[in-house]
Amino acid sequence: MATARKFDTLFSPGSIGRMTLRNRTVMAPIVTQFATDTGAASAVHVAYLGERAKGGVGLIIAEASYINPVGRAWSCGLGIDRDPLISSHLQLTEAVHRYGGKIAIQLHHGGNKANPKYNGGRLLSASDVADGAFPPPEPMTKDEIASTVASFAEAADRAKRAGYDAIELHGAHGYLLHQFMSPATNHRTDEYGGSIENRARLAREVIRSVRQATGPSFPIIIRMSAEGGYGLEDAVIFAKDFEDAGADAINVSQGGTAPTAIMPPEISPMAVTQGYLAGHAETIKRALNIPVIVVGEIREPALAEGILSSGKADFVALARPLLADPHWAAKAARGDDDRILKCISCDTCRLNLSHNAPIRCLINPKLGREEWLHDPEPASTPRKVMVVGAGPAGMEVARVAASRGHNVSLYEAESTLGGGQLALAKAPPYKDRLAWLEDYLARELERVPVEQHLNTRVDASTVADESPDVLVVATGAAPLMPSIPGIDGDNVATAFAVLAGDGIPEGKRVAVLGGRQVGCETAEFLVERGCHVTIVARSPESQLVIEAPPTYRNALLLRLRNAGVEFITEHDVKEIRPDGLTLVGADNVERDLLVDSVIIARGAVPQRGLAEDVGAAVPEVHTIGDSEDPRTIEEAMYEGTLLGRRI
Ligand SMILES: Cc1cc2nc3c(=O)[nH]c(=O)nc-3n(C[C@H](O)[C@H](O)[C@H](O)COP(=O)(O)O)c2cc1C
Ligand code: SF4
Repeated sequence: MATARKFDTLFSPGSIGRMTLRNRTVMAPIVTQFATDTGAASAVHVAYLGERAKGGVGLIIAEASYINPVGRAWSCGLGIDRDPLISSHLQLTEAVHRYGGKIAIQLHHGGNKANPKYNGGRLLSASDVADGAFPPPEPMTKDEIASTVASFAEAADRAKRAGYDAIELHGAHGYLLHQFMSPATNHRTDEYGGSIENRARLAREVIRSVRQATGPSFPIIIRMSAEGGYGLEDAVIFAKDFEDAGADAINVSQGGTAPTAIMPPEISPMAVTQGYLAGHAETIKRALNIPVIVVGEIREPALAEGILSSGKADFVALARPLLADPHWAAKAARGDDDRILKCISCDTCRLNLSHNAPIRCLINPKLGREEWLHDPEPASTPRKVMVVGAGPAGMEVARVAASRGHNVSLYEAESTLGGGQLALAKAPPYKDRLAWLEDYLARELERVPVEQHLNTRVDASTVADESPDVLVVATGAAPLMPSIPGIDGDNVATAFAVLAGDGIPEGKRVAVLGGRQVGCETAEFLVERGCHVTIVARSPESQLVIEAPPTYRNALLLRLRNAGVEFITEHDVKEIRPDGLTLVGADNVERDLLVDSVIIARGAVPQRGLAEDVGAAVPEVHTIGDSEDPRTIEEAMYEGTLLGRRI
């Protein structure tokens, strides 16, 4: 791989123990749910990690893998708890080695975050402190501690036999080792509790036993939280302790057993400062003689280069950025960093972890489909393709079809690419990173190229003039207007209109009808404009913003509450009056809500009139994205990429 001068440090080789890496990029571990229910790596896994190795990353750390059944936390998590699994792991390591990459595996025990549905039902931890919805765990006996230490060592030995180049121990994010380290979850009075030295004992014993099992030169990394039930000062002491116990590198992350000062609970995942852990990593690094890896919102090669060249860390770890763009490193190394599809931190990839489903990315439809969703092949017969609507679905289908040699023209009624849909999606607070997707697609469309017609409304006669072989209707969705008496009043507007900047009721008392993501985001948009907002939802409180990833949802709801937004749930609207609303509850009791304005956020309906108007005049007509069925950017990108390959 050619080295681009602007990222010299990033693309210089580096070492962890005796392992030399081709550059300073590390893929942080990511639970994928691509494994089988027995914990074996699948073909999906092999293709997924192979693609990342091909994309130039120096070291891949394969996801949290359970070292014994009681530590198991996910239905289709990777396991390394028994010898028959070695065969599938060998396929993973081979898939990475064939592209010149190195691969470690993260050894994991969930402790009180193991899932009783999948781990046999018994939860073990340092003390009886429960995590979230799970029942309180049993404090581990000394025998259970000893057998857990042995399980880590046996798993490490298996990993070495499976061809891994290194081990990472999961000592962060509130899992078992961290549960012992944190005073929030460790209330023991024996030699495993109390002082820092005692709380570090389990992790120390694990490092030593893994060292014994794997030999003197096998690299051992430990991941730990720089804050998480303890502060940075304690983290430095833990890190030094782990170095003394034989760790070859510290992978600095954060969070797990308690809210951390560095990540307040109300912060949107889309608003976390880029490289926010670099300062913490630097403090830890200053106390150590072994390399430090730092993770967290590192989206741009220039930022990564800055962290490394200023000596804050020795390696940068990328988790979600390599889900969004597996070729992040290769593109940066070539100096093509403007072609990276940057992760927007929406956290959609976390959504499926609690749904027994494989992870997916909002903006990269190939994630988890690398095995069959290959690069597009040239079209056998180039055709004239007309795409109407330059939202994500329209831009993606145009990009892929044009890259295959079709003659593609893209029409958009608005003045910019992205169409109305992306502009609305990125209007609410903290969502500006959606512009990264828009900019990426716009740049790629320039490259292929696609003929663009902005500010152009298309009807059947425009299509007749253009006379395409294929028409793709990607005109998005319109707001759904419920049939409520008074909905035509002057005091009523749609969330779409408000987010587009039309008739914002600045400083007024506003009711937003709808408690899903659009309703709640619009509420926050209005709060920022001085409105006093009440959200009226038919669903119960537990269903508010339910479609969003928990990290996004919880932070948004907390911010709304902190801002004084009121929620009236399980109420429908009987009538919209000039001075407010008549609401009716599940118990049929009516109540009045006095507001100046009413904003409708009750969903959307597809806009596919063009496809119907054109009828049989065009030989091939397709409807995709929201114009087929209003959903999210994820489905729009997926349908666009599939259709672009099929045309
Ligand atoms: C879907 C998902 C799964 C994750 N799984 C793991 C894991 O198995 N082990 C781990 O230590 N961290 C895990 N993480 C945390 C990431 O490794 C990383 O620390 C975090 O995403 C922040 O880095 P980023 O900004 O580069 O994404 C996971 C994160 C996500 C989004
Ligand atoms: S789903 Fe969102 S957060 Fe996850 S990798 Fe894709 S863009 Fe990033």
